[in-house]
Amino acid sequence: MQEIQVLEGISSNTTELKKQFYIESYGCAMNFSDSEIIGSILTEHGYTHTNDEFAANVIFLNTCAIRDNAEKTIRDRLKALRNNKKKNQDLIIGVLGCMAERLKTKLLEEEKLVDVVAGPDSYRDLPKLVAEVEDGNKAINVLLSREETYAEISPMRLNTNGVSAFVSIMRGCDNMCTFCVVPFTRGRERSRNPESIVQEVRDLSAAGYKEITLLGQNVDSYLWFGGGPKVEFKNASEDQKNSAVNFAALLEMVALVDPNMRIRFSTSHPKDISNEVIYTIKKYDNICKYIHLPAQSGNTRVLEAMNRTYTREWYLERVNTIREIIPECGISCDIIAGFCTETEEEHQDTLSLMALSRFGFSYMYKYSERPGTLAQKKMTDDVPEDVKSRRLTEIITLQNQLSLQNNQTFIGKEVRVLVDSFSKKSKDDLSGRNDQNIKVVFPKENYQIGDYVNVKIERVTSTTLIGKAIN
Ligand code: 5AD
Ligand code: SF4
Repeated sequence: MQEIQVLEGISSNTTELKKQFYIESYGCAMNFSDSEIIGSILTEHGYTHTNDEFAANVIFLNTCAIRDNAEKTIRDRLKALRNNKKKNQDLIIGVLGCMAERLKTKLLEEEKLVDVVAGPDSYRDLPKLVAEVEDGNKAINVLLSREETYAEISPMRLNTNGVSAFVSIMRGCDNMCTFCVVPFTRGRERSRNPESIVQEVRDLSAAGYKEITLLGQNVDSYLWFGGGPKVEFKNASEDQKNSAVNFAALLEMVALVDPNMRIRFSTSHPKDISNEVIYTIKKYDNICKYIHLPAQSGNTRVLEAMNRTYTREWYLERVNTIREIIPECGISCDIIAGFCTETEEEHQDTLSLMALSRFGFSYMYKYSERPGTLAQKKMTDDVPEDVKSRRLTEIITLQNQLSLQNNQTFIGKEVRVLVDSFSKKSKDDLSGRNDQNIKVVFPKENYQIGDYVNVKIERVTSTTLIGKAIN
């Protein structure tokens, strides 16, 4: 049975069904963050959020297109949603995000059960798009914008633990890595007004949040010139240069909001991460000593084919500089196995770069050719599937060893943990993360979610530090 709610402020003889939306997010943190912006836009237009897909009038899937299997998962989910449509003829289903942007009208044509298609820059239009469907049409908006940052929208925190929140600082990507579909699905890079970012962080602090993650496809190229389209720094006027806010300055502004609020950020690009940023991380206790620095490959020729615009030596220099300035800094990585034309020796270079960099953690993938990317147009996806799989297994095996070695360095040491949940294995244990973003589990005693707790580490696995709180 559908829940009937009366809109607040409406006199007792005028009852109205408040429409309920249900949203599922797939892929990167940016999508989860966008879903919170969508939640806010819909709520402003009279919708309420439900976690029950069968109670919903509108179901949105906020989708990812980065690899083929991400899209397969979503296609399977769309097929399963046919049952919901059978039970509720008026149910409206919308596909949002990167897959919507990539496939555009194809989704309306192929998947008969999709009613709304909306790309990442068109969420303000969602209430209108849904209304069009209610009028019997299919609705689509996949326009990409050079300006849209949803700057002033205060995101509705969905499925939150009340401790950690994402704050989007920029949108899009101008880098054009040859394997990547993101520049096509999320459009040009634009930075969000720093004042609106700081205000959002203040609001989160006032609401009791203890940790924020600043999000962007390439946070190190964050640059605010007081509005208007992006200008290269070298082409900016003197006035613009004097008032510019770069990522180091933004980090500092955000760190100063609340010394008890942990600041994280993702994702850094090896070509752009500056010493100024590294020194800013060092300067503030509340900026976590952890950098996610995707290398993608450890071989210069492959990096060039990927258009990453740095060499193996450049990457290793950045890692060494980070470690010189902040010896305890955790570094994690993204790696792609079996990119076009990658040889066995080049794959070995990736393994050796991982070992030299001593990554605490990596996200590791097989190369997946994406339609429309430069690699798909100009190169051949010529590494056989079984070779890709074997290389990926080698990469994962090495990373597990490196993670274990890294975690072993914490045995006998005290780490500061922000508790974010109960341990999955036992309600008697709490779980949280240390500064370096490693999971820490310890007996609950009287501690609670949201507490900072000093934990002495007794033993470790490749994924977890295990210990006891120190009073
Ligand atoms: N195939 C495999 N992995 C990819 N990534 C991006 N595009 C592809 C692709 N076509 C990975 C990169 C990136 C992460 C978000 O996803 O490692 O850093
Ligand atoms: Fe894709 Fe490269 Fe941009 Fe990351 S930096 S989103 S991998 S194009």
